[in-house]
Amino acid sequence: MLSNKNIREKLSKNSLASISRILVLEEVDSTSSEVSRKLKEEPGSVVLCVADKQTAGRGRAGRLWHSPLSGNIYLSLSWTYTELEKGFNGLSLAIGVAIKKTLETFGYLDLKLKWPNDVIVRGSKLGGVLVEIIGDINSSFSVIIGVGINVNMSREEGSVIDRSWVDLASISEDSPPSRNDLIVAIVDELIDLLSSFSKRGFAFWRDSWLENDAYLGENVQVISGENKILGVSRGVDVDGALVLESSDGLLHINVGDVSLREHP
Ligand code: BTN
Repeated sequence: MLSNKNIREKLSKNSLASISRILVLEEVDSTSSEVSRKLKEEPGSVVLCVADKQTAGRGRAGRLWHSPLSGNIYLSLSWTYTELEKGFNGLSLAIGVAIKKTLETFGYLDLKLKWPNDVIVRGSKLGGVLVEIIGDINSSFSVIIGVGINVNMSREEGSVIDRSWVDLASISEDSPPSRNDLIVAIVDELIDLLSSFSKRGFAFWRDSWLENDAYLGENVQVISGENKILGVSRGVDVDGALVLESSDGLLHINVGDVSLREHP
C-alpha cells in the first residue's frame, strides 16, 4: 500500500526540506497534471504526487502511459529554477541515469538506458521519464518530472502496450521491494540531482549515461514523425542530443518526437 506517512518518515532531511506537499492518491488522471494544478496554487513550491492508478497517464511524444491499478509506480515531482548556470539541456537524460542508479541499489543490475530516457532490460522497457516545462525557460520556470516504473503488472494488464515491456517482478527471482521504499529512494536521488543540475549541467552525467547506453555502436533507425534516419548510434553529446553517424555525416538529434529502434 502506498502510504504518505511511510514515505514522509523515510525521505531524507534534504528532500523534506525542499518538498512542501506530498500527495498520495488512489486514482488521478495523471500525477504530472495533478502536480501542475497544485503548483499553480503555490508557485515555486516542490510538489510530489504518487498514485496507484492513472486514468490518463501521459508518455513522451503524445503517447499514453498505460497505468493500471497493479502495483506500478506513477510519480511526479516539480522543481522550480530561477537561475540555470549550465542550461537545462539533457536534464531528462540525467534523470534516466538517476533512476537506473537508484534501482541498482535494490539489486537490479541488468538495466540499460535507451535514448532519450527509457530504462530498459534486454531491449524491453521497464520505465520512462517525461519532463514537462511550465513557464518561460529564459527566466523562472518549473519542470515537472514524471516517472513511470513497471513494478508489478500481469501480462494481461500489460497486453494493451504495443511494445515489449518488463516489470521488476519478472526480472528477479526475489519479490520487488515495497513501492514506498522505491519511491523514497527515487525522490531522494531526484532531489539531489535537481538541486545540483543548474550548476553541473548534463556534462556531469554524460559519462554515466554513455556507460549505460544500450545502443552505443549499434545500427539504429531514428523515427521522427514520418521521417526515418538510419545510422550508427555514437552516444550523446554534452547537451544530451543523440549523435548518429549517418550517410550524411554525424547528426546531433535533439530530444523531441523521436524514437529509436534497432535496425538490422
Ligand atoms: C515515456 O513515454 O517513456 C514517459 C512515461 C512517463 C510516465 C509517467 S507515470 C507518472 C507521470 N504521470 C504521467 O502522466 N506520466 C508520467
